[in-house]
Amino acid sequence: MLDNANWHKRFLQQAGWTRNLRSYLLEKIELPENADILDVGCGTGALFLDFEPRQDTYIGLDLDHNKLAYAQAHFVDTNLICAKGEKMPLRNQSFDLVFCHYLLLWIQHPAQLLKEMSRVSRKGGIVAAFSEPDYQARVDHPEVFQKLGRLQNHSLQEQGVNLSIGRQLNQLFHQAGLVDIHNGVLGGEWSNDPQSKLSFEGEWEMLVHDLSAYLTAAEINAYKDDAQEAWLTGNKTLFIPTFYAYGRTP
Ligand SMILES: C[S@@+](CC[C@H](N)C(=O)[O-])C[C@H]1O[C@@H](n2cnc3c(N)ncnc32)[C@H](O)[C@@H]1O
Repeated sequence: MLDNANWHKRFLQQAGWTRNLRSYLLEKIELPENADILDVGCGTGALFLDFEPRQDTYIGLDLDHNKLAYAQAHFVDTNLICAKGEKMPLRNQSFDLVFCHYLLLWIQHPAQLLKEMSRVSRKGGIVAAFSEPDYQARVDHPEVFQKLGRLQNHSLQEQGVNLSIGRQLNQLFHQAGLVDIHNGVLGGEWSNDPQSKLSFEGEWEMLVHDLSAYLTAAEINAYKDDAQEAWLTGNKTLFIPTFYAYGRTP
């Protein structure tokens, strides 16, 4: 089991991959000064720092009390609410921006959750899903990573993850009644440099966590040497297309 400090490390890493896209989208969205912002499924607060330079009122909401306790201890000035995104204890039309990041993949009825996000957004306010991966469209190379990729997908599916949420975003935003919808996919760029053993161990730890719902530790470790070699020699490609969408509340 990962502890909250490790979850936070992981969430910060993910937030780092998607930061440029977020800044680009935030510029396009043109938020008012002193905006009211709601981060749905905020976890340990990995995105809080993005908004720190602004003078907004920022609220984080999550159903996991432990992750919120971690966020509270590290970001003392942030307002946090422990609740389900599908039924938020918040008034109608309260926010200029209501967003999520790596949340909808975990949600059984994402259109319903988007409707609820729209309910608490002001008229003309923005509802955004900044990053949702499409595991079904993943590209893994060489063979050892193809095998691991298939196993990871099986395991995530066992845990209830929607593997093709990325490609569904556009349709879901329409179903939720949002208008002026924009969507797209985050690009990828890789350096040719061999990767460090430390970065491999970090990725491996995450993969072991994902696979443990499906395989024993011994079954997972059978892949480790080949995976490490491809990683350390810079011979791997891992690409999980990650989509975004945003729209306005009518
Ligand atoms: C992958 S984490 C992402 C956390 C954060 N958004 C980030 O990107 O660092 C998903 C978060 O969504 C929360 N979550 C899952 N289902 C939820 C629901 N129905 N309502 C509110 N939060 C939920 C989980 O507790 C978890 O903290």
